[in-house]
Amino acid sequence: MPPITLNRRAIAYLGGAFLFILLLSGAVTNHVRPDLIQKNIPEKWRTTTQAPKTEPEPPREPFQEEIFPLAQAGKVPQINPKNIAKDDKHATPLLIGFTRNWYLLEQAVVSYLAAGWPADQIIVIDNSGVMDSNLRGLLSPRNPWYLNHTRLDLLGVSVKRTPTLLTFAQLQNFFINFAIEHDWSYYFWSHMDVVVIPKEYESPYKGFYERTLECVRATVGSKEKWALKFFAYDWLTMVNVEAMKDVGAWDTQIPYYLTDCDMYERLYMKNYTAGNWDAGHIYDVATHLSDLAVLFPAEGENNALDTQRFRDLRSQLERMMKEKVENKNGRNTWQATQDGGKGEPFWRNPKGFEKAIQFWIEKGRELFKMKWNYSECDLRRAGRHDGSEWTW
Ligand SMILES: *[C@@H]1O[C@H](CO)[C@@H](O)[C@H](O)[C@H]1NC(C)=O
Ligand SMILES: *[C@@H]1O[C@H](CO)[C@@H](O)[C@H](O)[C@H]1NC(C)=O
Ligand SMILES: *[C@@H]1O[C@H](CO)[C@@H](O)[C@H](O)[C@H]1NC(C)=O
Repeated sequence: MPPITLNRRAIAYLGGAFLFILLLSGAVTNHVRPDLIQKNIPEKWRTTTQAPKTEPEPPREPFQEEIFPLAQAGKVPQINPKNIAKDDKHATPLLIGFTRNWYLLEQAVVSYLAAGWPADQIIVIDNSGVMDSNLRGLLSPRNPWYLNHTRLDLLGVSVKRTPTLLTFAQLQNFFINFAIEHDWSYYFWSHMDVVVIPKEYESPYKGFYERTLECVRATVGSKEKWALKFFAYDWLTMVNVEAMKDVGAWDTQIPYYLTDCDMYERLYMKNYTAGNWDAGHIYDVATHLSDLAVLFPAEGENNALDTQRFRDLRSQLERMMKEKVENKNGRNTWQATQDGGKGEPFWRNPKGFEKAIQFWIEKGRELFKMKWNYSECDLRRAGRHDGSEWTW
């Protein structure tokens, strides 16, 4: 399959109005990610990249310290047996980067677990930049950089710390190097502000993880010169380590937005492919469910599919995603509630932190322009090719 531009792929992927709403939202998430499509849309729809003007504070959700009471009580629910899939040949390491907001992270992790992803294949990459403070339990839950190590242990999920706070591009290279150290030829990475659920209403039914494994089986050992497999944009992505190495990995001098364009275009310039795969629903959210138990079968539900619980969950997640894209402050509403921790180790002013990220995003755009003498994503269409960077 010839590589197509991110723009066309993205549009093919979700289409029309829904995409439009998403684009309007295109701000920076708590984890800070580039927006694959941001640059390919008309100027008037683009999110401004200036430091945010002072806007009225979003309404505060009351702070909820515990969103998974069953786990706190040491009673993590069983997953639906139909979501259990085994593959003795293929590993599926899944890296989930964390910078801020434990509640969104826990929600994402637990949704992957409920969807059948084996706990021992999930690694949270703690990029909070607070060194061992979370391991030692020194931060309080209201601290934006708080993470509950004990809880992740209990869930069977491991944690790997970055040595210091990394930018988006640096974190991506950390993933690649981590894979090299573990001798993985591929790995998955996911955003931390997503919730995944299977398509329980489809028959014959295949769980989210089973469908991911199908992608792995179809990809590994194929002749395709593949670099990436996207599951709903890059909200979940399978990555080919050799391809990353071949193009020299991510350009860490472009720290946030556009660094994805730079990377993906360099891959396409060398004829690598990036396909799309559908494993189930992936929701992009800024808020959390009030009780994560709803991701698991209720008592007595056992292996039933498409239950009322599932349908309610699905509509709620749809509402949460809509809320995120519609609310101007939506992507960061959680910051208003996780507003504590001042005085604890490595605490930083969250507003300053956000402003500083905006600053580096802007600088990254300038650098991209210097590198390619072009400021949009569609480098190949603009005649740029492998080796034409920094030749201006
Ligand atoms: C962290 O998780 C553990 C294990 O579930 C729990 O016992 C503990 O109360 C949690 N800590 C906080 C501060 O919520
Ligand atoms: C990529 O494909 C084009 C067109 O088939 C070819 O000319 C070029 O040499 C290929 N580049 C690489 C690095 O394989
Ligand atoms: C850089 O791009 C500008 C605008 O497209 C063009 O006018 C200029 O000639 C380019 N610079 C070089 C050195 O090619």
